[in-house]
Amino acid sequence: MAKVMMVASEAAPFAKTGGLADVLGALPAALVRLGMKASVVMPKYRGLHPAGVELVLEGMPVWINHFRHRTDIWRLYREGVAFYFVDAPWFYDRDGVYSSYGNDYIDNHLRFAVLSLAALGIARQIEHPDILHSHDWQAALAPIYARSWFANDPRLAALKHVFTIHNLGYQGRFGKQILWELGLDGSQFHPGELEYFGDLNLMKGAIIAADFVTTVSPTYAREIQTAEHGFGLDGLLRDRSARLTGILNGVDYAEWDPATDRYLPAHFDAANLEGKAACKRALLEAMGFGAEAHDRPLIGVVSRFAAQKGFDLLEPIGDELMKEDVTLIALGSGEPHCEWIFHDLTDRHHDKVRVWHGYNNGLAHLIEAGADIFLMPSRYEPCGLNQIYSLKYGTPPVVRATGGLDDTIDELTGFKFGEYSPAALLSTLRHALQCWRDREAWEERMRLGMGKDFSWDRSAAEYAALYRRLLGE
Ligand code: ADP
Ligand code: GLC
Repeated sequence: MAKVMMVASEAAPFAKTGGLADVLGALPAALVRLGMKASVVMPKYRGLHPAGVELVLEGMPVWINHFRHRTDIWRLYREGVAFYFVDAPWFYDRDGVYSSYGNDYIDNHLRFAVLSLAALGIARQIEHPDILHSHDWQAALAPIYARSWFANDPRLAALKHVFTIHNLGYQGRFGKQILWELGLDGSQFHPGELEYFGDLNLMKGAIIAADFVTTVSPTYAREIQTAEHGFGLDGLLRDRSARLTGILNGVDYAEWDPATDRYLPAHFDAANLEGKAACKRALLEAMGFGAEAHDRPLIGVVSRFAAQKGFDLLEPIGDELMKEDVTLIALGSGEPHCEWIFHDLTDRHHDKVRVWHGYNNGLAHLIEAGADIFLMPSRYEPCGLNQIYSLKYGTPPVVRATGGLDDTIDELTGFKFGEYSPAALLSTLRHALQCWRDREAWEERMRLGMGKDFSWDRSAAEYAALYRRLLGE
């Protein structure tokens, strides 16, 4: 039975800032259901001490550059998956996961170097996996250290490395001086390995060190090999194309199903849509709207507010859109400019727009259920999970045809536009609002989306097949 160990900076329900956590919270359990053994290694962030967690390794040293960092390793079994939490309070006992008050921690490279080395320690001392599967730049140092420092360690020699790119927009790029802080050998600092235009680029290093690279949708796997979406790594990714594939993310329907969702005031499914109206009412009330909003179509947004998500398209057309009979509710936080776009719209159209600023899981579920239309106009989107959730919640999405949005939404279940322009977004939204008025056809559209199955089992089977191939089975 093949054994996989995953390394990542977040996993639901333990720590989450975005879709990466959803994947790490569900994929390993799906692999276990397929008969594999799976574990996950992540930091023990502030306040993270789930019931039943046990200390399994006390004082495991992590050495970087003659400095000894002390870590305690905790473990919890959940759905058959061993979750290991790396306890190093100096690095992880902080307000945020990556940043405080919008500023990235200046020692993030070290924080995640400790995570990667601790994972290799757990691999050597406890888990003995066949596959080490690292996710995004925060875990990129795992294959890099394994293939350099530990190249001759018999306990790691046979290990195969898979690296998954969840977002090429975040590469873990640092000044050259960081090389020394990470204890990396200067001989690796050249364009064929870790160097990227004079800087250190961890994601690049992992792409080179790994046996296989995956990303989270087939279309994004193609897009990142183009100059437009390659963030400067498209040439490298084209070179590696024989060892690069896109596996679409799945959805954890135990968490995201309107028939059972614990955050909803009423439940519904494709056979009985009635409860959706109660969810809409609860959402409108929670956001301070009166009864007049009940009969208007409601557009929902749940998002990190980052340039990637495309909300700059809304800025020039906001006033035009608000001439329509419509309500807009947005939940999110992030980059100041993006926050400002929503705050400005709320100020000028308070009768129709509300934004809830921050992170709120319960409200995210209620928006998926209570909205009529879900909006996700991303500039690029590796996979995207919210649009897939919205299908299940009978909330047809308006999306830009890019990456995973293009792979998961069609014209029957949602609305797509190709050109990245405010005009294209506006006309697609107007079309969606128009369609909403034809109740019978709209419910047909809802039901079609609700019937789609994006459960993890299919994606997990693809990962399992890839692991088997790498292991020569
Ligand atoms: P990304 O990972 O790029 O942010 P995804 O669509 O893959 O985009 O996943 C986003 C996940 O984070 C979803 O589960 C979504 O519900 C959640 N999410 C995003 N922003 C918020 C927020 N402000 N409050 C609660 N959940 C959020
Ligand atoms: C990233 C991407 C998102 C994807 C998620 C999980 O955060 O931005 O598109 O769904 O990772 O793979």
